[in-house]
Amino acid sequence: MKIRTKENKLFEGAAEQSILNSALKANLVFEYSCKTGQCGVCKTTLLKGEVIELQLQLALTEQQKQNHQILTCCCAPKTDILIDAEDLSALHGIEIKTLPARVNTIKKHTADIIEVTLRLPPTANFNFLEGQYLDVIQNTIRRSYSIASTSSQKEISLLIKRFENGKMSDYWFNQARENDLLRIEGPKGTFFLRDNSKPLLFLATGTGIAPIMSILNSLDNNPDYQQQHPIAVYWGNRYPEEFVWQPDFKKLEVNVTKVCSKPNQDWVSETGYVQNIAIQKQPGLVDCAVYACGSNAMIQSAKQQFTQAGLPENQFYSDAFVQSY
Ligand SMILES: Cc1cc2nc3c(=O)[nH]c(=O)nc-3n(C[C@H](O)[C@H](O)[C@H](O)COP(=O)(O)OP(=O)(O)OC[C@H]3O[C@@H](n4cnc5c(N)ncnc54)[C@H](O)[C@@H]3O)c2cc1C
Ligand code: FES
Repeated sequence: MKIRTKENKLFEGAAEQSILNSALKANLVFEYSCKTGQCGVCKTTLLKGEVIELQLQLALTEQQKQNHQILTCCCAPKTDILIDAEDLSALHGIEIKTLPARVNTIKKHTADIIEVTLRLPPTANFNFLEGQYLDVIQNTIRRSYSIASTSSQKEISLLIKRFENGKMSDYWFNQARENDLLRIEGPKGTFFLRDNSKPLLFLATGTGIAPIMSILNSLDNNPDYQQQHPIAVYWGNRYPEEFVWQPDFKKLEVNVTKVCSKPNQDWVSETGYVQNIAIQKQPGLVDCAVYACGSNAMIQSAKQQFTQAGLPENQFYSDAFVQSY
């Protein structure tokens, strides 16, 4: 089956493989994040032909399905098809690799948040764009984590939150030791900085700050980058002690607003939900490029509120930390 995009890219599809995976195999990169039908990032319009649903398109409403919208991570072609997906050339040449990785350090920020650095083989040549994530494979368990370090750093760092009864949380918080041997697969996802010509607004909940740390630190260290527009970060956590990152930029001017949903009496910054505070406080929100990362509930609520306020949908980028199956 032939899959064609509106910009006339043509590649082979197979009935048992998602459109997204067929595209990746053909070295094209469409927008994606979770690959499990939950986040909606890979949504596109089916302009011609028919598809088969390989896994449930959880992120689509009935109305969207009737409007011929599909999730490329969930559907395979049934006939030749034409779709509206865009190939992201910035990710061309960034190869997804499976590599051995050793745990280098484990730093405990709180009882439920750790920062892990991983050491790759010296010959690994692991390239990524700041904002992307990787999968960590420990025995039979595989989980995704955003890369918190920048591509110029020698080690990969991850910011990891404990989930109650979580399988990988059990490894990270109860068993992991320095020098443990793991495997990683990546880099993955299309959450990276697209456009410097607009004010930037970052939204994060919890460890969703990790890819934002990576993006901002890389801008701060880029000698060719000259900041021309305001940059704002709204970071939400449940408890005050969860604000484990202290921004410290050499040249970037970033307005960071911390938002706590369960503050104690000493809390002096904002309280509530991060998306609600951003919509109240952010000047010129609809002219910003918005990058949201963390809980799916925050992302879906922010997208709905911001687009309702007039933000064009194509100025909203997200990476949802959805559950693995
Ligand atoms: C693209 C992407 C990037 C991610 N980046 C990070 C990151 O940088 N740092 C980080 O800490 N985590 C990140 N995650 C989440 C991470 O992959 C795991 O889902 C999470 O750590 C839980 O894994 P676990 O094995 O401990 O729990 P599991 O054994 O998978 O689940 C244990 C329990 O927790 C609940 N649960 C599991 N995951 C979630 C979730 N995401 N949201 C709500 N409930 C959940 C389950 O319902 C279950 O009851 C990311 C996820 C994705 C998809
Ligand atoms: S729904 Fe397809 S990548 Fe998340």
